[in-house]
Amino acid sequence: MNIIIASNAHEVALKAYELFKTQLNHKPNSVLGLATGSSPILLYQELILGVKNQELSFKEVHTFNLDEYVGMDAHHPQSYAFFMKKQLFDHVDIDVKHTHIPCGLAVDLNKECERYNHALKNHTIDMQLLGIGSNGHIGFNEPHTSFDSVTHVVKLKESTRQDNAVFFSSLDEVPTHAISMGIHNILEAKKIVLLAIGKKKAAAIKAMVHGPIDEVCPGSILQTHPDVTLILDTEAASHL
Ligand code: GLP
Repeated sequence: MNIIIASNAHEVALKAYELFKTQLNHKPNSVLGLATGSSPILLYQELILGVKNQELSFKEVHTFNLDEYVGMDAHHPQSYAFFMKKQLFDHVDIDVKHTHIPCGLAVDLNKECERYNHALKNHTIDMQLLGIGSNGHIGFNEPHTSFDSVTHVVKLKESTRQDNAVFFSSLDEVPTHAISMGIHNILEAKKIVLLAIGKKKAAAIKAMVHGPIDEVCPGSILQTHPDVTLILDTEAASHL
């Protein structure tokens, strides 16, 4: 694993921006795997600026998001579809038809997972952006998820619901289930860039980097991937 330690969240975003800029300039029709949560927000702001300054373009880019809450339509302010529009898609030159997010409102969720897997099979992800949960989850692949998993319906751990409750007005509003790309899907990306900011992530980062490769810490499987870059602030890196 290539580990970059940056002094603060803004520096994390700038370092990640350079990797994405290089990727898009090298291959304008890249397939990007995208993430939600607080960690990528500053990177998305840098990407928006980059498009404005004509340093890069999303015109030919296709994107696949990692996950979506079950039961939320794309207009719900806490849905990941809404998040992506607000934080990135509405402000860059991407063709919305090229953006893919699992549909949390599908009547048949298993069919929706199959549909998403099929779409992923036809698009190899060139660069996958990840955050990490404080329990080591990647996407919404909670501890003990099989490393062979593909897109599936997940029952969220209480700790994850509590972590994500900051985005809702109460814990009760946080959905109990999500659709997530599986760990196998994530590992198929050619390059992986994981961002982590803050003390709350330090233990998960340590387990991911130095711990055994074990389904207890989903992120630990990244030790087996040939091209992973972790970009951490000093707090997230503090247990390494
Ligand atoms: C959620 C998302 C993950 C994300 C994680 C960390 O659980 N499903 O993809 O990595 O939160 O979020 P944050 O960046 O807000 O700490």
